[in-house]
Amino acid sequence: MRRNRSLFTLMLSILLGGIFLVGCGGNTGSGTSTGSVTSCGNPPILSKSTGLKIGFSQNISNSPWRLAENKSMQDGAKAAGDTFVMTDAGGQDAKQVSDIQSLISQQVNVLIIAPLTESGEVSAILAAKKACIPVFLVDRDADHSLAKPGQDYVTFVGSDFVKQAQLVADAMIQATNGKAKIIELEGTSGATPAILRKQGFDNEIKKYPGMQIVASQDANFDRDTARQKMQTLLQAHPDVTAVYAANDEEAQGAIAALKAAGKVPGKDVLVGSIDGETAGLESIIAGQQLVSVTSNPRLGPLTYQAISDYAHGKKVANWIVMQDKVYTKANAQANLVNGF
Ligand code: AHR
Repeated sequence: MRRNRSLFTLMLSILLGGIFLVGCGGNTGSGTSTGSVTSCGNPPILSKSTGLKIGFSQNISNSPWRLAENKSMQDGAKAAGDTFVMTDAGGQDAKQVSDIQSLISQQVNVLIIAPLTESGEVSAILAAKKACIPVFLVDRDADHSLAKPGQDYVTFVGSDFVKQAQLVADAMIQATNGKAKIIELEGTSGATPAILRKQGFDNEIKKYPGMQIVASQDANFDRDTARQKMQTLLQAHPDVTAVYAANDEEAQGAIAALKAAGKVPGKDVLVGSIDGETAGLESIIAGQQLVSVTSNPRLGPLTYQAISDYAHGKKVANWIVMQDKVYTKANAQANLVNGF
């Protein structure tokens, strides 16, 4: 019945658009594309809803966050009775593009992509569309001037990164009575959470003249990079009183550097970050970290629900928002069970 409805929707779009169906989501052929419009739907339709072959392209698997996301995607496929093929780009845009090309060649029915950067994987996203494979972006988005949700890919499933960073800024403003010298450790340059978290944090901090960002540097969402950057930054700014790190891995690196420099994190220097990792929760409980706003990596349930809805011809929003929480000393212990 539902399958009939999605077929009806397709027939209607063919009639209205005057386009000819070559193949779609089930990979019965490849589509022809004129500009951004592909003959198998815009984005390509998914003509079957069960027994799917899912291709998941991960950008890197170097942290508890990424491992939790991988597990969630794999578990989702298992629960849906789908087969699952995963690639790992090791933090390289070029590798992720070739990974996606390889998944296209393997004729997956659906592509789930966690793109490294906003522009680095766009050519591959558009190639998937041309091959009539619907794409679901997860955890990071693409630049909407290059590829559009609802047209070039089905949807983006992920957190509100601006809000996450605003919440960290608010906790910091409150804890310092609006007066602090802050070192900002940013995420991977060009990645959606790095761009939007910086926007959210900086714009909130700007409202308080006593809050000063004395230095900002890219620490690649990576613990050891953050530790090394922080070590150098502390020499230039020994009077720093707060650190904003774009994720908990970076916060862990910053805490290590602060300790090595003889400072007491949580006392001499407040540390705030994002993700809700177990390590972040433990640092909060130990009094070394002020706050961690979650960025829930368990995106599988929302993603597979979106795939099912799409296969059944239901409307899928351009952005499926993962709701996040704020962890502080008040609730960190109780939420340790939710860590990763
Ligand atoms: O894209 C989500 C972000 O990427 C997570 O917050 C971060 O830890 C990861 O590297």
